[in-house]
Amino acid sequence: MSSHKFLTLDDVETSNKRIFLRVDINVPLDPSTHQILDDTRIKAISETLHRLEDAKVVLGSHQSRPGKDDFTNMQPHAEALADCCNQEVLFVEDVIGPHARERIAKVERGQVLVLDNLRFCAEENVDNIPEKLLKTHFVKQLSPLFDLNINDAFATAHRSQPSIVGLTDALPSAAGRLMERELKAVSALLIEPRRPCVYVLGGAKVEDKIPVIENILGGVPAKLFLKATDKKISPDDEKDLAGLQTHITKAKSLWMKYKERIEVPLDLAYGDTRGKRTDRDIDAPLKESALDIGTKTVEKYSKVVAGAGTTVANGPLGVFERDGFDLGTKQVLEAMARSNGYTVIGGGHLVGLASILGIDEQFKHVSTAGGAMLSLLSGQSLPGVDALVRAAERMRNQKPN
Ligand code: 3PG
Ligand code: MG
Repeated sequence: MSSHKFLTLDDVETSNKRIFLRVDINVPLDPSTHQILDDTRIKAISETLHRLEDAKVVLGSHQSRPGKDDFTNMQPHAEALADCCNQEVLFVEDVIGPHARERIAKVERGQVLVLDNLRFCAEENVDNIPEKLLKTHFVKQLSPLFDLNINDAFATAHRSQPSIVGLTDALPSAAGRLMERELKAVSALLIEPRRPCVYVLGGAKVEDKIPVIENILGGVPAKLFLKATDKKISPDDEKDLAGLQTHITKAKSLWMKYKERIEVPLDLAYGDTRGKRTDRDIDAPLKESALDIGTKTVEKYSKVVAGAGTTVANGPLGVFERDGFDLGTKQVLEAMARSNGYTVIGGGHLVGLASILGIDEQFKHVSTAGGAMLSLLSGQSLPGVDALVRAAERMRNQKPN
C-alpha cells in the first residue's frame, strides 16, 4: 500500500473493473458556441485515463453551475477527450436516469463513457454532510453499478457533494494520479517550504483569500488592505468594497499584527476617459475603479518574487483581459517563471494566461484548481480527500492482519 493516508492507483486492481472516475473537466467555454477555450484540465487527467486503459470507465464531471452561460452538456468534453486519449470515448445524455444506467452496464473493457453534466442533478448542487450524501438518489442509483470509484477531481475536492464524497463513501475508492500529484505539490507549500515564502493573492474573490492570509500570511487582495490601512481609494473602489466590512476588519487586524510581512501597492492603474492606462500613486486615485497595479508596484513585486524561496500565486493582479491592464499579472508571472524557487500557480485565469504566454512549463507546479487550492492553503481539510481517507480505513479494516 502507498505511503499516503488514502489509496492510489498503485493499490487497487483495475483491470476489467467497472470504474466511476470523477474528474473536474469544468473548462472555460465560448458562451455562444460552447467551444472549449482551454483544455488544460482535460489534458491533466490523461495519466489516469492511460492507467485505466484496460478498465470499463464511466467518467463524470460537472461543467459550471446552474444559472451560468456555460452551464451546458458534456458533449464537447467527450469529443476533446477522444482527441487526447487512446480509448474509445462514448457520451450519454443522462446522468443517473434509466438511459444512463443501461449504458453504464454495457460499457466494455477499454471504453470510456462520459456521463452528462453531473450538476444537471439537483442533489449534486448542494453541499451536505457525508451521512446525508450517502442517502442521495444520486449515490443510490449509481453506486450499485460500479466495482470501484476513482476520484481525480482535485479542483472539486473542497465540495462535499454526492459524486465527490457520497460515492467515495459508498464504494471501494482510491485517488487518481492528478489528485495525488496536486495534493503532493500543494501540501509541500505548507510543510517546511523554502523561505522566504511569497503569496501573490489577486483576483476578485476576497472572501477566499483572507483565510489563506490568516493561515499563512503573504500577498494581498490589494484594495481591501489599502482600505483597511486608511489609504485613499477611488469612489468606485469604495463601492466595490461595500458589504465586505467583516473582511476589512479582519484585514485591519492582520495588518496591525503583520505589517512588515504584507506588501501593498505603491501605485495603481486606471483607464482614462478613452480607456487608456494611466498610473497614479495610491494617494491620488481617480474616481473609477483601479484596473491593475501600477508600474512602480510591478517593479517592487517582481523584486520580492525574485528573492523568494517559494512563490504561490492565485488570482490575477488586475483586469488582465483589458488591453493595457495585463502588465501587473504578466510581469509578476514572468518573474515567477524566471525564479529558481519553488513556484506554484493556480486558478483558471492565471493558468490560462501562463499558457498563452508560453511560460507554463517554467513553474514547478501548475494547479488545475482555484478554490480547492485556496481551501488547502487556508488550513482546511478537503471533504473529497477526507472521504478517500475513510475509504482506505474501511479497506484496511476488512483485511485480515
Ligand atoms: C472550479 O472551477 O472552481 C471547480 O470546477 C469547482 O467548481 P465550483 O466552484 O463551481 O464548485
Ligand atoms: Mg470555483
